[in-house]
Amino acid sequence: MLTTADPAAAARALADGHLAALPTETVYGLGARADLPHAIARVYAAKGRPADHPLIVHVRDAAASLAWAADIPDYARALAHAFWPGPLTLVARRTDRAGDSITGGQDTVAVRVSSHPAMHAVLDALVELTGDASIGVAAPSANRFGRVSPTTAEHVLAELGDVLGDDDVLLDGGSSSVGVESTIVDCTGPLPVILRPGHVSAADVERVTGLSLGAASDVRAPGTLASHYAPRARVLLFDADTLAARKNDNATTGVLALADVPTPEGHVRLSAPATVDDYARVLYAALREADALELTTVLAVPPAATGIGAAVIDRLQRAATTS
Ligand code: TXA
Ligand code: MG
Repeated sequence: MLTTADPAAAARALADGHLAALPTETVYGLGARADLPHAIARVYAAKGRPADHPLIVHVRDAAASLAWAADIPDYARALAHAFWPGPLTLVARRTDRAGDSITGGQDTVAVRVSSHPAMHAVLDALVELTGDASIGVAAPSANRFGRVSPTTAEHVLAELGDVLGDDDVLLDGGSSSVGVESTIVDCTGPLPVILRPGHVSAADVERVTGLSLGAASDVRAPGTLASHYAPRARVLLFDADTLAARKNDNATTGVLALADVPTPEGHVRLSAPATVDDYARVLYAALREADALELTTVLAVPPAATGIGAAVIDRLQRAATTS
């Protein structure tokens, strides 16, 4: 596998049906051309991901998304206009172009326009190489199924270095600036429904659409399992007061909390983010650090549920769930 900072190399690999691990502003993705089922099959195999867990199709711009998604309601257009390029994924009815290999056989498709300049450059180059302005790259997070998503090229190497082939490419675009996966909004019903919280918050969606969020959705988001994003260390959610009352430990317990939460004596501080945005940015690296240090337990004090805090809480809860 070639590791490079050159988007054109990643685009060439993709055009030829190989895989490319790609930086986005949320997390790194493992990409394949969305119109090549044999390449998509390799993505599933590399991750160890069940075939009925659909993938997000990444396109260059909103116009290109219309080749993959149909029956787009006005509120979805408003969301795309407000937040693309950015950490938002829209689920809508699929067009004929969105095949079973990316949709897991469902009649919907997930589409996203990333704001990462390197990702953008890859898609531009791929459009150039294929002559297809709406070419899509299907890319799940570039981690083994159920594990912590990668936010750096080094994380991708640790996850997938041994399963990617000679012709595959890892595009190094630095650390992901958001740090948790995109907000997924189901746009198949009369009201938007958030399937996965992210940097675009519930309040953002309501403000931009002028609608209240719909409560339930019959759209399946199979990747949003109760147990996910899990390091090897056991993750436990703590409130700051309970944490403060803890006595000496045997140095195998890590602490992850905002900077204003002190580290109890004898514990390993994994990270002390100053803001909730920083918390999201460092979250996955901190969970990986716990494993690198061979800690047995991570005590995490969740942030408040405002803004991206809801997404951080969601990921911590899934990391803490063992079944
Ligand atoms: O930020 C992100 O979204 C990253 C970057 C690489 O773009 N991608 C990502 O992909 O998180 P993945 O595969 O790890 O998570 C995609 C989620 C899964 O929970 C999947 O079930 C859901 O999107 N999804 C995909 N297609 C769907 C569909 N048609 N209907 C409902 N959920 C869908
Ligand atoms: Mg994932």
